[in-house]
Amino acid sequence: MDIIARRPGPSVQEVFEGDTNPPPAVMRVESPAQGQSLADVSIERYFSKAWHDREVEKVWRKCWQLACRVEHIPNVGDHMIYEIVHDSLIVIRTAPDEIRAYVNACLHRGTLLRTEGGCVHQLRCPFHGWTWKLDGTLSIIPGQWDFPHVDKASLNLPEAKVGIWGGFVFVNFDPDCPPLADYLENLPAHFEAFNLEDRYVAAHVAKIMPCNWKLAMEAFVEAYHVSVAHPQVMGYYGDTNTQYDIWPDVRHVSRMISVQGVPSPSMKGIPPERTIAEMRRDVPFFAGRPIEVAQGETARGKLAERAREKISRSIGRDMSDLSDSESLDLIEYMLFPNMVPWGGQALPITYRFRPNGDDPESSIMEIMFLFSKAPDGSHPTPAKMTMLGPDQNWSDAPELGSAAMVADQDTDNLMRIQKGLRATRKPGVTLARYQESRIRHYHATLDAYMAD
Ligand code: FES
Ligand SMILES: [Fe+2]
Repeated sequence: MDIIARRPGPSVQEVFEGDTNPPPAVMRVESPAQGQSLADVSIERYFSKAWHDREVEKVWRKCWQLACRVEHIPNVGDHMIYEIVHDSLIVIRTAPDEIRAYVNACLHRGTLLRTEGGCVHQLRCPFHGWTWKLDGTLSIIPGQWDFPHVDKASLNLPEAKVGIWGGFVFVNFDPDCPPLADYLENLPAHFEAFNLEDRYVAAHVAKIMPCNWKLAMEAFVEAYHVSVAHPQVMGYYGDTNTQYDIWPDVRHVSRMISVQGVPSPSMKGIPPERTIAEMRRDVPFFAGRPIEVAQGETARGKLAERAREKISRSIGRDMSDLSDSESLDLIEYMLFPNMVPWGGQALPITYRFRPNGDDPESSIMEIMFLFSKAPDGSHPTPAKMTMLGPDQNWSDAPELGSAAMVADQDTDNLMRIQKGLRATRKPGVTLARYQESRIRHYHATLDAYMAD
């Protein structure tokens, strides 16, 4: 705990003590990393093709990874295509309570069976028409007389493993992988407080990023860069007092919590009116009638109140008990290798980061907003993904609202980081002891998979 004694205050936990509605119990615990190696992290992992190829074998073909949401495929025959580097899966609902993931390649001559999602009652290859039933058995070989040497029964579509948690469908290419529930470690216990099963994808935007997929992810899991890269938020965002949690013996999960509605510890004497005005300037969610702060009230308290009103109205359910933190703060978890799900209702984000095909120096970053379903469980059709090209900005996707400006600022830096890592003569990146402890934790797990 020595390092957090030196962290500027007030701490996240101290802010929580002044809140009107306290946060869930999992958020009242602090677990700074213990005993991490402080060595630099080698940089070839961000550009080397050899590293990338080994990552395919050791990470992408071994780890559980997010494929889609269950609400993307509600009916039997509904499917999505999940692609990672050269692998392609058809993630398909094969029965009301069963989802399977078939390798998306014809067992005749290899053609992709599907190039996009949709709904089908069988899987028919567009080249010569070999056809599989939804249960994966081969049903039709046109001109069967010409294949006396083929045993139909041995040509079921190969499958990846499928697991479901929090309304997310996960896949794993490794037949010997641990069960998803074990892989998720403490994540499900934490998310009992922020049930993501009652959400649906309300917005989904992807963009080709000018950097390795890990660099893109790392820019979104620490707040050390905020005062320099996003100076506009300092009147209402707690950057240097952000809490970072790494739990003993937990390899795949970490967390950070940044408070909002309070100024950065580096900003002294900011009146509550300014905190409110600047937050409302950047976050349209807080727009509307004036927010007055009376004697004895705080900007954070008033902003949380407004957020609860807005959230209640949009969900159609009374959310007046929602904690100040879930109404305002960044409650961000990371699941190895590439998923970043958030708790709370203020910023209901999930990020996913993947290599862009076979190129280690570009990536696909996705931002999903998971809004709450109506009290009866109904919800609008999940949002179709908007794909932004390399030259488009996040702000070209209006559905992202205030998240776009921040993501654009990070994207500009990421291009410089990718190029700078090719120019540098220093063999490793140096990480902060506390504020970048999640990145170090992440690379310790990555190194273990890569060495395996
Ligand atoms: S390649 Fe699929 S039927 Fe020929
Ligand atoms: Fe950022």
